[in-house]
Amino acid sequence: MEWTTNKVRATFLGYFKDHGHAVVDSAPIVIKDDPTLMFTNAGMNQFKSIFVGNEDAVQKRIADTQKCLRVSGKHNDLEEVGRDHYHHTMFEMLGNWSFGDYFKKEAIALAWDLLINVYGIDADRVYVTIFGGDDDLGLGLDEEARDLWKQHIDEERILPFGRKDNFWEMGETGPCGPCSEIHVDLRSEDERGKVDARSLVNQDDPSVIEIWNLVFMQFNRLENGDLKTLKEKHIDTGMGLERLVRVLQGVDSNYEIDLFRALIASISKQTGVAYKGTAELPDVAFRVIADHIRAIAFCIADGQLPSNNGAGYVVRRVLRRAIRYGFSQLNMKKPFIYAIAGTLVDEMGAEFSELTRGKELIQKVIKEEESTFLSTLEKGLDRLSTLFDSENGQVVEGPVAFELYDTFGFPIDLTNLIAAEKGWKVDMEGFNKELLKQKERSRNAGKTSFGDWTVLHEGPNSYFLDMTICDLLR
Ligand code: ALA
Repeated sequence: MEWTTNKVRATFLGYFKDHGHAVVDSAPIVIKDDPTLMFTNAGMNQFKSIFVGNEDAVQKRIADTQKCLRVSGKHNDLEEVGRDHYHHTMFEMLGNWSFGDYFKKEAIALAWDLLINVYGIDADRVYVTIFGGDDDLGLGLDEEARDLWKQHIDEERILPFGRKDNFWEMGETGPCGPCSEIHVDLRSEDERGKVDARSLVNQDDPSVIEIWNLVFMQFNRLENGDLKTLKEKHIDTGMGLERLVRVLQGVDSNYEIDLFRALIASISKQTGVAYKGTAELPDVAFRVIADHIRAIAFCIADGQLPSNNGAGYVVRRVLRRAIRYGFSQLNMKKPFIYAIAGTLVDEMGAEFSELTRGKELIQKVIKEEESTFLSTLEKGLDRLSTLFDSENGQVVEGPVAFELYDTFGFPIDLTNLIAAEKGWKVDMEGFNKELLKQKERSRNAGKTSFGDWTVLHEGPNSYFLDMTICDLLR
């Protein structure tokens, strides 16, 4: 295979090194010093203070691959993972940055050259979007980006979109600016002949996908909502490695790229079940486990163990989701996911030495979690089955959901997921009431042992505020 995942990554970094960029390590996936952000969710996170002018850039040009985790309680991408072929919890974001050095012209020229001349993507399948302007922001169409793109691509493939798609913001506050995305049409010739991909860009078509976002950082969003123009203009780009590899390997699913094939083969070996790649169960379980093992292993390698609150609870719920799929769909009643972590280290350890160094710990922690959760999972699932078999309605009442959470260790989204599979709902209001009651009891007993998260900023990039119930009550 010509474009292995490792080669695609190395080619990206080598290209930008050859163009004057210092290649740096990925920042840790777990963030310890930012109260608004639990996990790194974009390559630029670690450079935030340079963008807003609080810190000088030692290097004006930087490139890296960043371990990112994008999961959200409300938007809940987590529940999509595995059901389709292109959502992930953890992914690698390839990025190049210019801090007050080159701007739109070079960023566009470099991206185009790399994709077309180095990776060999068919230019005829490429579409780009530009910022179309927004009255509220007081900004017009990004004519500069349009004119620059015209030097590379037909004007009819340059598509303007509004603020939602083409004005990138780090969060409620912080660096932001208009952006330009590169999309690739992966449909068959037959399909391409029938429908022009221009009408499919940004429409969630699984075969017309965004691969790279070039952000032209020009503003800082202040607390009061105003946009303050930055002293210098910067470039911030992010390309999804798994999607790029999918394009270059010519496969229909992110889960068919070499890295995921190895993980899925390992799951087959452990479970004795064959993967067929369909949209249905039990194939969903393979994708869930292959995806989740990466998120979990990288979090543990970066020091975040599963726990009952904050980032640790995120890790725990992702792992429990994987365990439950293995249990229910692949009939695995004993720990096995820790063994898949071994394959992951074999596949990615050369690039990410923290995995190799942490291998023993990663496997030990996962195995312990598996043992503990498996011992109560069966009882909890029986509890739910009995409920589903009863004639008493379509709602899992709050106290039952809470009992599953409290006694059986079911993260609430797991209960939601199982209920949804049966066409049932969970009484979340009732659940939250029970949670608050328990908080009161714990407070009285001097304990603070559980937590949850809430979404601070809902959007393509989601931010978490580590807000435990005790915070809510303060
Ligand atoms: N920061 C930009 C993104 O995350 C590149 O899409």
